[in-house]
Amino acid sequence: MRTEIVDATRQKEAGTQLGAKIIREGGLVAFPTETVYGLGANGLNGEAVARIFEAKGRPSDNPLILHVSKKSEVRQLWDTLPESANILMDTFWPGPLTLIARKSSIVPDEVTAGLDTVAVRMPANDTARALIRKAGVPIAAPSANLSGKPSPTTAAHVFDDMNGRIPLILDGGACRYGVESTVLSLVGKPTILRPGAITLEMLSALLGEVRVADAVLSPLKENETAASPGMKYKHYAPDAEVIVVTGTPRKAAEKINELYVRAEAEGRHPEIVATEQTKGFYGGKNYVILGSREKPATLCSNLFSYLRSIDRYSDLVLAEGISTKDAGLAYMNRLLRSAGFNNIEV
Ligand code: TXA
Ligand code: MG
Repeated sequence: MRTEIVDATRQKEAGTQLGAKIIREGGLVAFPTETVYGLGANGLNGEAVARIFEAKGRPSDNPLILHVSKKSEVRQLWDTLPESANILMDTFWPGPLTLIARKSSIVPDEVTAGLDTVAVRMPANDTARALIRKAGVPIAAPSANLSGKPSPTTAAHVFDDMNGRIPLILDGGACRYGVESTVLSLVGKPTILRPGAITLEMLSALLGEVRVADAVLSPLKENETAASPGMKYKHYAPDAEVIVVTGTPRKAAEKINELYVRAEAEGRHPEIVATEQTKGFYGGKNYVILGSREKPATLCSNLFSYLRSIDRYSDLVLAEGISTKDAGLAYMNRLLRSAGFNNIEV
């Protein structure tokens, strides 16, 4: 299959028209959102949704998010509207917040992987919303990467993974946040299953107590069932070994330097992931700076693109841990998963 790329910033009308036609006919379209690129299909058509799993090589027990273009569309997708849903939608939609509630009978099992709940979000990206509106159905979409790879934040990343597997990529430029949406379950006490740009602090300010699932910062224990099936899987991992070092910046840098020297002596090609505040610790060594500790959202927006580039240069990544406040929680969640939770505390 030939994969066409349409520049959706210049040809939004034509691009979304073509995309909507493909979606209505049961095909797949990759499209930009403010978080990462999505790989969309008609969310009310089980056969179309099954093609997403095939194209990504995604395990069939990992459910998808339904994307809507209007708040009112959730009514047909959820069985009942949780009390807190209205205020969350009014405050954060359109935007990077996914809400989970009990599903209605029109949602196919292929979307929910057999669960009785369904995840829904209304993206802030104009092209995404125009595509959904024109398709006339909710669009089921995971991130548009091959399963296990970092989520794509540019159309080029999507092309690298999906060339030949899908007919169309709508290119909307680089994604604003670069990290996937916050996933919040409203079944029982509000619980963050995946942190994102809508932070724990923002949600708590609105709702009071909000829980964070254990699996956000630590690996699932053996025999533990995942609140969110996506937590089970290895994710974002490059071929290179990734080690996270957490502690005070100075102590962490000492440990990183020690590991770096040892790795080089063994003939390996280490690289350090540092921040603006700590670059002075690594003179003469290979390091990259993803941003400032004061702006964890910037670190998030640069992480996936960096993870995709690593294997060209290094076989060992030594990354500084940062505070889990604000967007730091999303950053540490993705970083620790890319490291397979290989974390040294100093
Ligand atoms: O920002 C995003 O959310 C992007 C863009 C494309 O919207 N989408 C995305 O989808 O990241 P995906 O499939 O890569 O991640 C969805 C996550 C998975 O970890 C999945 O297990 C979880 O949400 N999830 C989906 N439905 C669920 C449900 N009913 N219960 C629990 N977890 C659910
Ligand atoms: Mg994904």
